[in-house]
Amino acid sequence: MTGTSSRAFPPSRRLVLGGALGLAACNRRADAQAWPAEVPPLKHVAPFPVGSCVQAGQLDDPDWVVLARTHVSQLTPEWEMKMEYIVQDDGSLRFDRPDRIAAFARENGMRLFGHALVWYAQKPEGFLRLDESRVSFGKAYDNYIAAVVGRYRGASGWDVVNEAVAEDGDGWRDSLWASRLGDLDHMVRAFRAAKAADPDAVLFINDYNLETIPRKLETYMRLIDRLLAAGAPLDGIGCQTHVDAGLAEGALERTLNALARFGLPIHLSELDVSLVRARRPLAGRSALEAAQARVYAEAAAAFAALPRSQRFAFTLWGLRDGDSWLVRENASDRPVPFDNTGAAKPAAAALARALAGGG
Ligand code: XIL
Repeated sequence: MTGTSSRAFPPSRRLVLGGALGLAACNRRADAQAWPAEVPPLKHVAPFPVGSCVQAGQLDDPDWVVLARTHVSQLTPEWEMKMEYIVQDDGSLRFDRPDRIAAFARENGMRLFGHALVWYAQKPEGFLRLDESRVSFGKAYDNYIAAVVGRYRGASGWDVVNEAVAEDGDGWRDSLWASRLGDLDHMVRAFRAAKAADPDAVLFINDYNLETIPRKLETYMRLIDRLLAAGAPLDGIGCQTHVDAGLAEGALERTLNALARFGLPIHLSELDVSLVRARRPLAGRSALEAAQARVYAEAAAAFAALPRSQRFAFTLWGLRDGDSWLVRENASDRPVPFDNTGAAKPAAAALARALAGGG
């Protein structure tokens, strides 16, 4: 079912209060079927796919299921398609939870977006225990990518290489993969293995802080050039967009426009807008929430302004505040568009207007 009622749009007073009260108002709806969609379904107003991250546990939460079915048309596993979940210490692979997510996406007519094959942050025991010979390590690397991408053949795309650029933009990150297989070579190799396993999946590189660290954006763009020149089948560019409510106006638009110069599809892949990380002093909660709504609207408008063929998907890194990794890090943050009861916050209303092209 999809809750398609668009009453109370722009948001009612109750919605605004719901946003302001945040987790304090965390009482679950008794009847998920009675969910009132407070903003029009985002996936219907946007002329491109709208996504969210998901964890398998959320599939057992009827409120999350209704919210996701209402608003999103693509799911990215938040962590259960990463090596940290899939690769066991003895080198075997487990797919129970990612399979559940893939089945849910299929049954609900949503696209599945794979995340993430190669990530500097993870070096599983299963790989560390391999002998030191480059040949066996490289084979295990290829086999891993072939097994995972092959199993989810039909996914809309994959983050093949995640967060390869150094934190401050000064070169590329060190990682187990870079040290064993070569800094550029391990990336090229991952793209080739993924393409062989699913020729139709759109293969992405993905990174963050591109809006706030100009040097990081430059290094990212130079890396994309290098990968393309090396013949890597890199089909798309991810811009995670973990930003905060103090983000300077125009920063998102400039970043997306710079990335779009390659002519490749763009995935705004992990959008959230932190309140507590806001660096600019913003007086009080309601000013922060208004600034947050402005940033969500700007992200949507900047994405919507890209050429149609380059708008791969617009993905939220969490729907309800209580689902967000940032809230797990800092319980007072409220970074995503819906509050813990699933009610639309001002950010959701601003997002809906901008996705619809209303600025
Ligand atoms: C985060 C998830 O949200 C957390 O649940 C997990 O524990 C760690 O990873 N960039 C990425 C995502 O590419 O995979 C990260 O997701 C957030 C930053």
